[in-house]
Amino acid sequence: MNDPEKAHHATINLLALGGSLAPGRGLIRAMFPIKQNGPEVKAFGLTFSNPLGMAAGYDKEGTAWRGLACLGFGHIEVGTVTPLPQPGNPKPRVFRLVEDEAVINRMGFPGSGAEAMRRHLDHPRPKGLVLGVNIGKNKNTPLENAAGDYVSLVRAFASKADYLAVNISSPNTPGLRTLQKRVALEALLNPIAAERSAQSIQLNKPVPLLVKLAPDLTDDELDSALEAIQSAGMDGVIIGNTTLRREGLISSKATEEGGLSGKPLNELNTSMIKKVYARCGGTLPIVASGGVMQAADAQRKLDAGAVLIQLYTGLIYEGPGLVAKIINSGLRS
Ligand SMILES: Cc1cc2nc3c(=O)[nH]c(=O)nc-3n(C[C@H](O)[C@H](O)[C@H](O)COP(=O)(O)O)c2cc1C
Repeated sequence: MNDPEKAHHATINLLALGGSLAPGRGLIRAMFPIKQNGPEVKAFGLTFSNPLGMAAGYDKEGTAWRGLACLGFGHIEVGTVTPLPQPGNPKPRVFRLVEDEAVINRMGFPGSGAEAMRRHLDHPRPKGLVLGVNIGKNKNTPLENAAGDYVSLVRAFASKADYLAVNISSPNTPGLRTLQKRVALEALLNPIAAERSAQSIQLNKPVPLLVKLAPDLTDDELDSALEAIQSAGMDGVIIGNTTLRREGLISSKATEEGGLSGKPLNELNTSMIKKVYARCGGTLPIVASGGVMQAADAQRKLDAGAVLIQLYTGLIYEGPGLVAKIINSGLRS
């Protein structure tokens, strides 16, 4: 199949079907056996059976997470979900840079919206699986009203998710990344934190909030974003999203617009994890997302200071067996 987005939908449909039936789930588990699960991770009040998770954007609609869980992931982050349905950017909008083991995407949060996602999450949770929901604003919502979108999504998903990830780092929604600037970020995070507290009291459970940052922030921008994140009482950061950088690529698709993921992101990502760890001294849990293609990459992120790791592009190039391969490698946290 030549169109990466069509290939992705075929896989998602297969995982959704397999994951919806007990024999299907058994079959997926038997195909990709986990020989030694762990190490268990405790972070932001949750217990993860192992450090490896599915990054946001793979199961955008929350239809395939039960199938994905059978590959061995300790957590799955569904979304990005927006309050209302929206089409996303015109196709084609996903490009494989095969020679670079990378992907460029400019999806722009296509999806059926919060109501549909809520229905998709209404299934019994596989034992031990942590489910995160990644939330974003609708394209048509003016930036000055962005907080309203995020607050409504905290309200919609606090009861359904184990944690929520505030996505302000996709390069494909105009202006979204400007929300990472100190003043804008405080104005955004304070009402989100207030809604989280209200939900947490009402539901009588913690509702951890993570913020997903871009790898393209300057050191100063990163410092001030981290200050805002900590002063708003966020529980952790996801480092990070796709990059707008293009250095060192050889594929002819490298000139496509959008966010770059996969192998070329690996080093940039690990160095950002080290910076955040040095800056926050371990007081802010770090979830690594960027360029995990092999077990050794995952271990390097943990060694750099991450408590959890996520992957996406590695699954495209290495196949679904990568999850078991990484977990069976015996990660050390
Ligand atoms: C096709 C595609 C769609 C993505 N969609 C989202 C998204 O909706 N929300 C989000 O936070 N990240 C999204 N991402 C970013 C991934 O979650 C991840 O942070 C990034 O790809 C880096 O990890 P990787 O190198 O393992 O792919 C997307 C990535 C790809 C390749």
